[in-house]
Amino acid sequence: MRISSFEEYELAYKKSVDDPEGFWGEVAQNFEWRKPWTRVLDWNFDKPDIKWYVGGKLNITENALDRHVRERPNQPAIIWEPNEKDDDPVTLTYKVLHERVCRFANVLKNHGVVKGDRICIYMPMIPELAIAVLACARIGAIHSVVFGGFSAKSIADRVNDANCKMIITTDGAFRGNKRIAMKETVDDALIGCPTVEKVLVATRTRTPVSMIKGRDYWWEEETKKVSAECPATEMDSEDPLFILYTSGSTGKPKGVVHTTGGYMVYSAYSFQNVFQNNPGDVYFCTADIGWITGHSYIIYGPLVSGATSMMFEGVPTYPDAGRFWDIVERHKVNIFYTAPTAIRSLMGFGPEFWKDKDLSSLRVLGSVGEPINEEAWTWYNENIGKGNCTICDTWWQTETGGIMISPLANITPTKPTYAMLPLPGVQPMLVDEKGEEITGNAISGNLCIKFPWPSIIRTTWGDHERCKQVYFSAYPGNYFTGDGCIRDKDGYYRITGRVDDVINVSGHRIGTAEVEDALNSHTGVVESAVVGYPHEIKGQGIFAYIIMESQPHEPELTKKDILATVTRIIGPIAKPDQILFVSGLPKTRSGKIMRRILRKIAEGDVSSLGDTSTLLDPAVVEEIKAAAGIS
Ligand code: WTA
Repeated sequence: MRISSFEEYELAYKKSVDDPEGFWGEVAQNFEWRKPWTRVLDWNFDKPDIKWYVGGKLNITENALDRHVRERPNQPAIIWEPNEKDDDPVTLTYKVLHERVCRFANVLKNHGVVKGDRICIYMPMIPELAIAVLACARIGAIHSVVFGGFSAKSIADRVNDANCKMIITTDGAFRGNKRIAMKETVDDALIGCPTVEKVLVATRTRTPVSMIKGRDYWWEEETKKVSAECPATEMDSEDPLFILYTSGSTGKPKGVVHTTGGYMVYSAYSFQNVFQNNPGDVYFCTADIGWITGHSYIIYGPLVSGATSMMFEGVPTYPDAGRFWDIVERHKVNIFYTAPTAIRSLMGFGPEFWKDKDLSSLRVLGSVGEPINEEAWTWYNENIGKGNCTICDTWWQTETGGIMISPLANITPTKPTYAMLPLPGVQPMLVDEKGEEITGNAISGNLCIKFPWPSIIRTTWGDHERCKQVYFSAYPGNYFTGDGCIRDKDGYYRITGRVDDVINVSGHRIGTAEVEDALNSHTGVVESAVVGYPHEIKGQGIFAYIIMESQPHEPELTKKDILATVTRIIGPIAKPDQILFVSGLPKTRSGKIMRRILRKIAEGDVSSLGDTSTLLDPAVVEEIKAAAGIS
């Protein structure tokens, strides 16, 4: 299933389009199934109703663990690099990881967790996080990992949406020189989470935390009470494996549902083909497991493939801006996968942080999460890759489950800022505003996918209609990504960014509506409008226009209060970078905010505001421009 030349890629791609079922049926033979499927694919994009490997039975952890315990028991599965540079890394071999997952799966069982239950995991990047995720999968519980930077309210919203029965957390977290409360945040969330019966707490910082009898249990104590044998629960190919919440244009974050068989096949297939991981390689993805990149390319893709996957607890700038490169040197990392925002921020520090580090083990450099600008691409290629590595700009989404458009390392040609070509099985289509397909060279277009791939989103938890509306209705018969895209004359793809009201801040998706809701709940706020604007490090920054009941006496203090409110409601990642108090917002006669104008003003470019004749009150624009200090 691993492609090793461009000719093989072309053949595989052709076969995947001409005979998708034949193609994916063959790929799936590389995995262990308890019972084979009766049909490879059954699909309908209108409903949508998509099933892969119909009737197949398996457990993903048998593929990620048991299989490798037989074939390579002493190979490191996870190498964990702690926050402090001087602390020792921890290696979990496949044998040890298997044992720890089984033990923790038994703890879950002891606490009444059964197949189909939803479990919320709110943890920092420590091995227990990977163990918790895999333990859920072992017994068929559906994990819902919530990124450790989210607020209590965000946890509660997600827990309640999925009716989670349990939360797994830690006392606290180390992140650079910060100590972050975890259990305490969970405690705040629990005030409004009636379905949660149990909380399991692993210790990391040994911060004093409240532990309620009959509800809260220590991870370490509970694991002592159980055996290390835990047979895997048999799952149907289409049984949900996990829910992961992500932001969209409107409303609250939605729970993207991925199922077992197709997700396993595609996460491993894409991992092996994009990164071309060889036996003995060390692979390091810097993402947090709280995001899809961590699910697919720290845990499932690499482990199902029998690779060695690194987990890093800390941040790229602690103790200094050379930390990533120290890790590469220390562990002789061969494949390194990070986000453009990290590259841009590290570029800004002097060459002393990378120049003398031994980076010669590197072979493949990945990028994900947002468009990579040419300057960052070139810096990455020259200073980190020393011109010897393939840059894999990988485009994909929470909803796609795996990498969709990317070079295959050392196989596909590369071109700065281009994600290049679709993986086998991925059929991109560019459409214009009217929904007409654009063929050949395209200077702009909306990116759709016309045919299912095994790890496509199946539904949004508890609200199938929303899944249909958001992804399958804009261009009927196709999956709509929400991204804009260019295709050059050679057929290479370049993703230009979101075309909806989603902002991509440091590779994190944030819905403008969500931030506006948070702003509007601040005392004295009458109305707000949020837009993205280009930000040198973060890719996009958040710009908030706010109307207050009365002009604040101390605007700078009020701004800080507002930031505190947003942090409380969503988390620090959603804090606006800029706030402008205004007396009105540009609206059409039908009351719709004209974000296009607000975006231009946030960019500081008012030379082409476009047509403002439909505005209810054109004077508002002049006022906002004056408030922003531009004329
Ligand atoms: C953006 C992250 C350009 C895009 C895996 C997408 C990218 C959103 C790239 C998904 C890339 C991701 N080039 N843009 N290589 N990768 N994006 O769900 O806008 O957190 O829709 O998944 O990030 O973000 P998500």
